[in-house]
Amino acid sequence: MDRILIVHPQPDSVEFALEAARECGIPAQGCLDSEAAMRLVRGGGSFSVLAIDPDCLEGYQNDWDRCLEVHAPGLSALLLCQPEALARGTELVKGGLAWGLFDLSEPRATLAQQLEEAARENQLRLRAGWESDPSAPMLHTQALEALYQLSLGLFECVTLQAMAELATASLQILLPERGVSVDLWDPRSPVERFRAQAGPDLGAELVRVPLDTSAGVAGELVVDVRSNETGRLGPRDIRTLYLVAAPLASATQNELHRRERERAQQGTLLAMAKVAEMRDNETGQHLQRVSQYAELIARGLREDGHYVDQITDAFIKDVVRCAPLHDLGKVAIPDAVLLKRGRLTPEEWALMKTHPEWGARLLREMVEENADLAFVSMGQEIAHFHHERWDGQGYPVGLQGEAIPLSARIVALADIYDALTTPRPYKLSWSVEAVREHLGNLSGNHLDPKIVASFLKRADAAVEIQRRLMDREPKRLPTHVDGAHPSSNGKAA
Ligand SMILES: [Fe+2]
Ligand SMILES: [Fe+2]
Repeated sequence: MDRILIVHPQPDSVEFALEAARECGIPAQGCLDSEAAMRLVRGGGSFSVLAIDPDCLEGYQNDWDRCLEVHAPGLSALLLCQPEALARGTELVKGGLAWGLFDLSEPRATLAQQLEEAARENQLRLRAGWESDPSAPMLHTQALEALYQLSLGLFECVTLQAMAELATASLQILLPERGVSVDLWDPRSPVERFRAQAGPDLGAELVRVPLDTSAGVAGELVVDVRSNETGRLGPRDIRTLYLVAAPLASATQNELHRRERERAQQGTLLAMAKVAEMRDNETGQHLQRVSQYAELIARGLREDGHYVDQITDAFIKDVVRCAPLHDLGKVAIPDAVLLKRGRLTPEEWALMKTHPEWGARLLREMVEENADLAFVSMGQEIAHFHHERWDGQGYPVGLQGEAIPLSARIVALADIYDALTTPRPYKLSWSVEAVREHLGNLSGNHLDPKIVASFLKRADAAVEIQRRLMDREPKRLPTHVDGAHPSSNGKAA
């Protein structure tokens, strides 16, 4: 948190001072002029020592005063003087402008010592300010409590939005009466922002503390410098901001990594599912549609008050991610069977009916080998049981009713619906009315009646999904022929 800012017009001197800072183990940044240096301070660099060439102060005296008062109160300034500027530097120190000076012709170890001393001086000054504040011990307890709650709460947040809201709430406790806001984003796609704001509207004079992560700046804390009730931000307030920024930055980084991993996993799973699908590729966007129908069904069931103890937000997220895996096991079915035109022989059909077990086996191995893929256990259920029937007449196990996992019952309907409403080379698609009637007939024997009822209530939304995710190259066969029935070649859906 404590850093040294070095400002000198000569790169050699900047490098010399950076090396001295490294020797005393304090992080440092170097600049060649005051404007660049003040930009760093305003950007929330959290500096405790400013080591600056007296010439760089020329013409910037007021700007520096203003900048330090707002952004780095209590900072120790050390003048870096060439021998010929020593007399002037001494005057400036006497005038109270700087805390001390260093003769650049002296050894680097001396500068390292002085920088260390300057940093210590900054700490003492801050502590003195703290102790002279009669409300400090009380505030100290509250601040500790708020920071403790923040670090605990950040662990539990599962979205960047929730983290932004939690950090904003903590800032409100720590810096009452002030306008505060927290913005979080992914440095790789900064367009999508997660924002929370509290307190009075933000004015024109703001302190911004960037949240540094290994991927770049991933957000910022913004606090209004002025407040009618409590006046300007003081040194303690600035420190407090950094105390909030540190855990928030690491929590943001963790969350970004988690999202990244999740995207990579999802991409891999979808690629695997596509490989399976491509072998008998009859419908380009079948997997995406099944996934969205499954989401529609899960949300609909919950809205209608069915299976509410099972359908959590996490369940919905997993069903969306895992639905495309339903036919993964088809990778194990020989081309001669999978791609056969015409009816399958009983032996071929028996082979085809092993695809659920193959899918479950493949996914089980993935889950066993990678703890991060725990959510794929739902994919395993879906792959294994999507051809089970409500009446127990399905395959591969013959499970009945609610013994069939809910995820698999949901995907069973989604898969059938998509097969009925999508034209394939060997059949036409069905009209909306014919599909409704057919699903009604499957209710209670093939499909879970509650799922069918919930889905039919939302048939318009399903039609909209189908329209949106229509295959880019529609088959040449007509898409809607009333009363048409598919002449299936006997393959599994
Ligand atoms: Fe299947
Ligand atoms: Fe399918």
